[in-house]
Amino acid sequence: MRLLVTGAAGFIGTNFVRYALAAGAVERLVAVDLLTYAGNWANLSDLASDARFRFVRADVAACEEMAALVRAERVDVLVNFAAESHVDRSILDQGPFLTTNVHGTLSLLEAVRDLAGFRRFLQVSTDEVYGSIDAGRAAEDWPTHPSSPYAASKAAADAFVQAHATTFGVPAVITRCSNNYGPYQFPEKLIPLFVTNALDTQPLPLYGDGMNVRDWIHVEDHCEALWHVLGLPESTGEVWNVSAENEVPNRVVTDAILRQLGKPESLVRYVADRPGHDRRYALDSRRLRTTGWRPRRDFGEGLAATVEWYRQQRPWWEAVKSGAYRDYYDRQYGGRLAGAAERRS
Ligand code: NAD
Ligand code: TYD
Repeated sequence: MRLLVTGAAGFIGTNFVRYALAAGAVERLVAVDLLTYAGNWANLSDLASDARFRFVRADVAACEEMAALVRAERVDVLVNFAAESHVDRSILDQGPFLTTNVHGTLSLLEAVRDLAGFRRFLQVSTDEVYGSIDAGRAAEDWPTHPSSPYAASKAAADAFVQAHATTFGVPAVITRCSNNYGPYQFPEKLIPLFVTNALDTQPLPLYGDGMNVRDWIHVEDHCEALWHVLGLPESTGEVWNVSAENEVPNRVVTDAILRQLGKPESLVRYVADRPGHDRRYALDSRRLRTTGWRPRRDFGEGLAATVEWYRQQRPWWEAVKSGAYRDYYDRQYGGRLAGAAERRS
């Protein structure tokens, strides 16, 4: 396999690159990343000595550069992780979501459209395209109903992937995964934000009543699912849901983190809710399971290992929580925390 992985220096990209190189069957792995605030070369730098690995700092929306790269490297499989990925940032500024998530995906599709020997385009999408799920679990044939600008950009990207599969025969598939947790996640998302804040005995800003539900999966289970999908027989244009079917309210996740770190419940602040906050995600992954994939990590054990990873990696997260991160944090949470209520359990 001559693999191109975009968004390789982000959370899931980093885990996937490590997984793919360890899994074997990879002759070449070209890692592309623009190194935005969320991308971190330090995540991958130890791989530079692997002769199969090459890192290219580039914007996936630069179509000619992407087309030249896939030709020069004779890429036959492309996995697209590159994205602006945070809902709260998409509410503050939608522009980069349109550029990277939609134009970026289109640019990559165009880059491989007529590429000799190209076998598979895997678009890494999200359960958020289905919107909030009142009851039951969203299956692949449910309509998309995005709530946030982030989810809208991912749904639009999915539509372009399907259009390219149908109209131009690009051998593309889409995976839609639920919320990931694990090592290397940028500390703006719920779990790493709350773990690192708790480690510093700082407030944990819980939106609304804290009872929004997310369907959590360990990032290694997600990576294994992506690898599994790459090995499925030709299935152009298909969608595969990926989930551990593990629904947990945010408050329960928060309590588990505090308990493990021995920190007081009084750190929790109920803050003004996220606008358009989806109440519940729940994903039906039976279709993928019938092909032999299963998630392996228990949530309790996986969360405990993740909390421990952040406890031991203080230099990693202190470096990314400095500089521009502080400006974002103040903008997102300054007003919210000023008007917040302490937890009364
Ligand atoms: P992340 O924000 O940690 O990483 C995104 C990476 O993309 C970063 O390294 C960033 O530098 C890079 N990037 C951004 N714009 C780019 C551009 N224009 N060109 C090249 N690189 C660019 O995100 P993540 O959590 O690792 O998510 C990866 C993918 O998985 C995204 O497409 C996301 O929508 C999807 N996804 C994430 C989750 C989750 O829970 N984190 C769940 C389902 C799907
Ligand atoms: P997040 O990690 O941003 O992922 P997503 O919104 O893509 O699911 O948020 C997970 C849940 O945690 C979501 O219900 C919003 C909530 N949340 C908070 O309560 N406080 C926070 O500071 C953050 C970042 C998230």
